[in-house]
Amino acid sequence: MKKVIEIETGETVVLRHVKKSDIDGIWKNFNEVLEEGTYLPVFTPVKTEIEKNSWYDNIKKDNEICIVAEISDIKPPYNIIGQCEISNLEWEAATHVGSLGIIISEKYRDRGIGKYLIDISIRESKKLNNKEKIILSCFSNNERALHLYEKIGFRVVGVRKQQFYMDAVYYDEIMMELFVEEYLRKNP
Ligand SMILES: CC(C)(COP(=O)(O)OP(=O)(O)OC[C@H]1O[C@@H](n2cnc3c(N)ncnc32)[C@H](O)[C@@H]1OP(=O)(O)O)[C@@H](O)C(=O)NCCC(=O)NCCS
Repeated sequence: MKKVIEIETGETVVLRHVKKSDIDGIWKNFNEVLEEGTYLPVFTPVKTEIEKNSWYDNIKKDNEICIVAEISDIKPPYNIIGQCEISNLEWEAATHVGSLGIIISEKYRDRGIGKYLIDISIRESKKLNNKEKIILSCFSNNERALHLYEKIGFRVVGVRKQQFYMDAVYYDEIMMELFVEEYLRKNP
């Protein structure tokens, strides 16, 4: 699977499955979003090769989906400008459900890349992993992410009040889900 899109800046972005050589780019993006201190309920950056490699090995072992957005003209690790992962849940009785996480590098947000990444990840998770339902969660103040998820067709199924505490502030967690068949019917 490989999809090529052109964004407003005139740059060409390739969307494809993750490769081992993308690991540094992916974790660079993750650590940068952590530093922003706004979007993820995590404090500790991922730095060691062991952590980075074991993440990749687990994705491959468990047949999980990770689609990256790449600008091929840029040198690694800066070539990876976003990633969307659909992971398995821990429950044996929930293998039909995938959990979605997405990050776009700050400079490339609001250019439509997130929407494409999520669309391809959903389709690939159905094709390769037989996922029927995708779930995710988000801070209630992440208006851009909520707008995008709702536009794609995710529905709010619950709110965990004061679920996170960061820099002396509580944040609510919004839980969402999307049924893949319904999504594919509406977006053939
Ligand atoms: C959330 C994120 C993945 C979205 O990816 P993206 O490439 O920026 O998304 P897109 O460009 O496809 O769509 C963004 C949409 O949000 C809209 N938007 C931007 N800021 C907004 C705001 N403050 N309130 C409401 N909508 C907003 C854009 O206009 C666009 O909608 P439109 O296409 O209807 O005009 C990305 O911005 C990101 O990585 N943010 C930081 C990390 C993060 O929040 N990850 C998700 C954690 S749950």
